[in-house]
Amino acid sequence: MFVPWSVSFSLLTSGVLAQNGLAPKKFLSLPLGAVKPAGWLHDQVLPSPEDLAHGIHIASVVNVKLPTSSSPEYSLTFTSVAQSDWIGGDSYYSNLEEAGSYWFNGMVANGVLVNDATIKSQTQQFLDYVLDHQDETGWLGPEVNTTKPRYLWGRYPFFFGAIQMVEADPTQASKVVPALHKFVSLANSMLHNGTGLEDWTKTRWEDFVITLQWLYDFHPDGQEDVLIDTMKMLKWTGDPWESVFEKQYFPTGPVEHLENPFNVLTWHGVNMAEGLKALPATYRFTHNESDLDRASQGWDLLFQYHGRPSGIYAADEYLAGLEAVRGTELCLVVETMFSGSYLYQVIGDPKFADRVERITYNALPATLTGDMWSRQYLQEQNQIAAQNMSPNPFPEDGPYSNVFGLEPNYPCCTVNHPQGWPKFITNSFLTTPDQKSLVHLYLGPFSTTTTLANGNTVSASVDTLYPFSDTLTTTITAKQAFTYYVRIPSWVTDGTIAIGSSSAKALSPANGLQAVPVQAGTTKFVLNLPSEITLESRPHGSVAVHRGPLHYAFDIPRNQTVLTRNSQENRAVDLQFEATSPWQYAIDTSSLQFVNDPPSSGALPSPVFDSGLPPFKITATACAIDWQVAGSTFASSPPENPSCAGSLTNITLWPFGSTKLRIGEFPTFTTS
Ligand SMILES: *[C@@H]1O[C@H](CO)[C@@H](O)[C@H](O)[C@H]1NC(C)=O
Ligand SMILES: *[C@@H]1O[C@H](CO)[C@@H](O)[C@H](O)[C@H]1NC(C)=O
Ligand SMILES: *[C@@H]1O[C@H](CO)[C@@H](O)[C@H](O)[C@H]1NC(C)=O
Ligand SMILES: *[C@@H]1O[C@H](CO)[C@@H](O)[C@H](O)[C@H]1NC(C)=O
Ligand SMILES: *[C@@H]1O[C@H](CO)[C@@H](O)[C@H](O)[C@H]1NC(C)=O
Repeated sequence: MFVPWSVSFSLLTSGVLAQNGLAPKKFLSLPLGAVKPAGWLHDQVLPSPEDLAHGIHIASVVNVKLPTSSSPEYSLTFTSVAQSDWIGGDSYYSNLEEAGSYWFNGMVANGVLVNDATIKSQTQQFLDYVLDHQDETGWLGPEVNTTKPRYLWGRYPFFFGAIQMVEADPTQASKVVPALHKFVSLANSMLHNGTGLEDWTKTRWEDFVITLQWLYDFHPDGQEDVLIDTMKMLKWTGDPWESVFEKQYFPTGPVEHLENPFNVLTWHGVNMAEGLKALPATYRFTHNESDLDRASQGWDLLFQYHGRPSGIYAADEYLAGLEAVRGTELCLVVETMFSGSYLYQVIGDPKFADRVERITYNALPATLTGDMWSRQYLQEQNQIAAQNMSPNPFPEDGPYSNVFGLEPNYPCCTVNHPQGWPKFITNSFLTTPDQKSLVHLYLGPFSTTTTLANGNTVSASVDTLYPFSDTLTTTITAKQAFTYYVRIPSWVTDGTIAIGSSSAKALSPANGLQAVPVQAGTTKFVLNLPSEITLESRPHGSVAVHRGPLHYAFDIPRNQTVLTRNSQENRAVDLQFEATSPWQYAIDTSSLQFVNDPPSSGALPSPVFDSGLPPFKITATACAIDWQVAGSTFASSPPENPSCAGSLTNITLWPFGSTKLRIGEFPTFTTS
């Protein structure tokens, strides 16, 4: 019954479409709101009103203050907080620059998925305000009381928010689309006369290209030529990502002492996370397959030389190499997730999806407190304290960067990180380009309803504790028979599928996707996706432990000091965490054992990403070793070939996302 060849076949046929215009994507995304989180994931992102302390995003209690004539800035305030308390109160954050634009991009998605009337009304006001104040030239801002030249970038995250509003409510198109076309026409003439650009805009051009491609795909309105010309102008005036990601130029270690042959900002972590979209976006208008090859190679280089076992890469402002104490900025975590989803949709290589899932279930929750009231600016793979650091291991960021709080070091991640979970959810289901098939990409508890080709209304709901379970039960209803696809991650060994009442059969995925024949009516199938414990080699002979999508780390026992509490919102606290027990262990890798304590109630605790809560863990035989701290706040590199300084003990490794202080890269020893 399985037709594994059909995916590549349909991709081949769709790949030979028109050479003019935009090349098709391999997979199409569904509009915001079509996919909803279920089960534990619902609890993670959608708090009930009585349970506000669980799962709420910090930024959902941040408001945007719209400009008035006496106070012509956009600014961010807590609900009912005096205007003087707004976050990020300098001009960099005003006038539809970073803060308001980021906030809007993340909050539109949250408002729709949470179905929260307050958030939806705020995002609607924001949208209306910006569009109603478009000036006669087409500029969107507005920018008032500033002598700063008009730079394009600050608008790009706003465009992503506006697109999502149209997706969730197509009636908004009549207002949004003409305003965007008017802006595009202005931007096109600015790009032709060399205005609108500064170094940040030059690195982030691809985000505008994505918006132009959305207009081209869904609302071209006869403007195809100016849209394509603007894409080309953005690329030719922007940074050359095809060279930045070329092996001969790519930095193979921390960059603080290297000279960047291109704009220095291309080695900036967040720019690079966004820049991952540049080559697949370019391919769509150049039809140059080498752009896709370069995108894929660049992705591999980035993780080879700067990658983390948590799935993400290190850049404490700039690319930071492999050492376990160097930092990863929260903004680059969520931007890499978003870019990885886009790379998968354009290129179709399952490696992008595997990594996005790992980042989402490890690096993202690790850098937020379980209740999501505090977040770091920088997380560390080995993190023995979260406090004002002395000395500071980050060459470009402040010593407060790894404190968990409202806006440590910089406020940008407070307003940018809320796009993380919702966009992961939205991108977890796709369709094939012929829209005949539904594709379940990211594994977890979701439900979706959509209409495929020929009016085939389908819905799918996935019941699972994944990634805290190996079993997923999917129920599909369909008007007509069709082929459903579900991603089988590369780490699965001996997985099975049981369709209906048939017995379980071995999986037979093609290009990472298992085809499932679905009949008209209801089809139910159960996937079992076990995986082995695997080891990843890390610097200094250390190892990292994985099983399936989860990376496992020693959760260092900690105490907590409240450093500051916001005067208006007392749940918004800055927290210092200090280790209260030894963390200096080597592990015997032959002793690792996987333990599953499934919740007796059948439901995971909410929140689940906090100490001692996940049902999955791994035990290890360990011994105490001599492992120095550097200064007083961070671990030096793992010692090579350490000798045991004490008797053997058993330690428990927990899913990385549930640890807030941790060792994730261990020295090893052999028991004998
Ligand atoms: C610009 O600022 C000045 C002085 O603060 C103020 O009087 C004026 O109303 C502002 N203009 C606008 C358009 O908001
Ligand atoms: C460039 O084009 C923009 C938009 O048409 C216009 O406002 C601006 O004055 C032009 N600048 C120069 C230097 O020609
Ligand atoms: C095709 O793409 C590659 C990689 O991005 C680039 O080096 C090459 O110049 C492109 N070819 C053309 C004709 O633009
Ligand atoms: C936390 O533990 C550290 C290390 O034992 C200790 O110095 C500090 O006083 C403790 N802080 C609190 C708030 O208990
Ligand atoms: C560690 O756990 C194993 C398995 O439960 C047990 O056999 C062993 O005695 C334990 N070792 C120590 C040092 O506690």
